[in-house]
Amino acid sequence: MKLENLKKIETGMYKTPIHKLENLSKKYGINIYIKRDDMTGYACGGNKLRKLDYLLKDALDHDCTVLLTYGGPQTNHGRLTAAVAARFGLKCGIIMDGPAPEKATGNLILDKMMGADLFFMDDTSFRNESSEVRKSKYKELVKKTTDEVVSMYKKQNEKVYLIPIGGSSPVGAAGYVTAAGEIKDQLEEMNIKMDYVFTGFGSVGTYGGLYLGAKYFDAGFTPVGISVAHKDKEEMQEKVELIEETNKFLELGVNVSADDMWIEDGYVGISYNVPDPVTREYMYMMAREEAIILDPCYTGKVFRGMIEMIQKRLISKDKNVMLLHTGGIPGIFSEGHENAMQGELWGNKQVEFKL
Ligand SMILES: Cc1ncc(COP(=O)(O)O)c(C=O)c1O
Repeated sequence: MKLENLKKIETGMYKTPIHKLENLSKKYGINIYIKRDDMTGYACGGNKLRKLDYLLKDALDHDCTVLLTYGGPQTNHGRLTAAVAARFGLKCGIIMDGPAPEKATGNLILDKMMGADLFFMDDTSFRNESSEVRKSKYKELVKKTTDEVVSMYKKQNEKVYLIPIGGSSPVGAAGYVTAAGEIKDQLEEMNIKMDYVFTGFGSVGTYGGLYLGAKYFDAGFTPVGISVAHKDKEEMQEKVELIEETNKFLELGVNVSADDMWIEDGYVGISYNVPDPVTREYMYMMAREEAIILDPCYTGKVFRGMIEMIQKRLISKDKNVMLLHTGGIPGIFSEGHENAMQGELWGNKQVEFKL
């Protein structure tokens, strides 16, 4: 299906703004811009609405009545799937890595406010197994839970549309292929030549879409993916395959090569979604300098990566750089992250800012 023929329903508010970060540009001696996909308009915003534009259209074309997806308990993608379902009169189910936390915080509160059904998969019995056993038992559990949830909805006369984790299917990734075109148009209007656009690298639809879109639209910038989780070789291979699949599915005819993908994995912090003091330093610095709120799981890491890469001269100062703000702000108010911030910003043990 050619990209031009793939239909979508706009679930967010576009174009999202691009603006210069004046204080940070002065501080680091390089032109730093930001693209505000945290301002996509609904349920605290974020990147996933662009993917859901295409996924929702596909779901409705298949007469589906339930959007069923996956994620960790603080999935931003789950929250925005719930938002789309609420607005377009569908049901939303989110299958989450479990067990269910005792208290709903952050995204979980918002999911419930928007009426999503949450299903937790208790994986505690095999969490300490070797990574191979864990992976295969996890796959089995996902399949079993999905079958149960789908048959539950069937009994209610509903039809389920399955959305993979992060909305990162070739259909979903189309959202960031077209976002690259949007960025190109905006930069032309602003008369700016952009060299690098930094984004999170998770389930890969965002980076992959931008990588393809930047080439397809000849947008002139190189996307840089900052990994938000440690990934093994096999996982990286799967991610590149998704980019290749998207290229084929959308008939983009782009030359896809792992050699020209710029992906850095040195800024993950402790681990995926584990509170990390260095990432928080960068979040605090962005808040103090520019009044832009980043999140602890994705955009804080991307911002850190961008600044440290400038400082290491991996990016030279005569280049223009842009941070893609992909949202995720409710994660600040999830239990682990909020507790860590309480310890640093409140009471008598407040930290001294280093950056
Ligand atoms: C706020 C935020 N930023 C970035 C990402 C990474 O995007 P992707 O999964 O498309 O790689 C996610 C994914 O969950 C996210 O929620």
